[in-house]
Amino acid sequence: MLRVAVLASGRGSNLAALIQASRAPDAGYALVGVFSDQPAAGALTLATEAGIEAAAVPRQPGEARARHDARLFARVLQVQPDLIVCAGYMRIISADALATLVTPMINLHPSLLPLYPGLDTHARALAAADAEHGCSVHVVTAELDAGPLLAQARVAIEPGDTAERLAARVLEREHRLLPATVAAIARRRLDLSTTPPRFDGAPLRAPLRLTPGDALELGA
Ligand code: GRF
Repeated sequence: MLRVAVLASGRGSNLAALIQASRAPDAGYALVGVFSDQPAAGALTLATEAGIEAAAVPRQPGEARARHDARLFARVLQVQPDLIVCAGYMRIISADALATLVTPMINLHPSLLPLYPGLDTHARALAAADAEHGCSVHVVTAELDAGPLLAQARVAIEPGDTAERLAARVLEREHRLLPATVAAIARRRLDLSTTPPRFDGAPLRAPLRLTPGDALELGA
């Protein structure tokens, strides 16, 4: 069983999707801890209700980012994760913390990276009159939203879309993409120990694509 720790800052709908998927008999992973910088995060409540260890590690006033990250990861490592998943964790993680972290860490981002790293991705995709938008899972590196891409799900932009409507359709795909990616890592189809990562033994040259049936397949 792959031991998975989750970092989340908000309501935790992606955490809920992971919890649900982890209950499938062939999931291959178990959620062993949920951690947040926000003591009031819905994700912490969801975790507690699901019987998963949950803890808030808020940043203290004036505390340096690297110091906060050191405290956070010291706490996270107590649950001995094999994989750390950022599911709506809204803080930039310091290069110092990443340099000492040996546990692989992945992040879910609501855009088709490398398009639109950072915030307000849905509004930016609409402002650019893009034909499609979506979400990505990538390996976390010191550069924000720029680590090796693992998998993406695409969503068509419809006439008259608003950022809210588009966000809702992307979120629905996030709820499929993240569990599918974690399951691929748990089943050792996706190997994060090399750069680029490998899928079914071959280097991943383009992000995996989530099919309408929620399977991951090789991209173009
Ligand atoms: C998701 O859109 C995620 O991609 C973004 O923050 C949101 C988190 O939502 N970075 P939730 O807390 O999982 O509901």
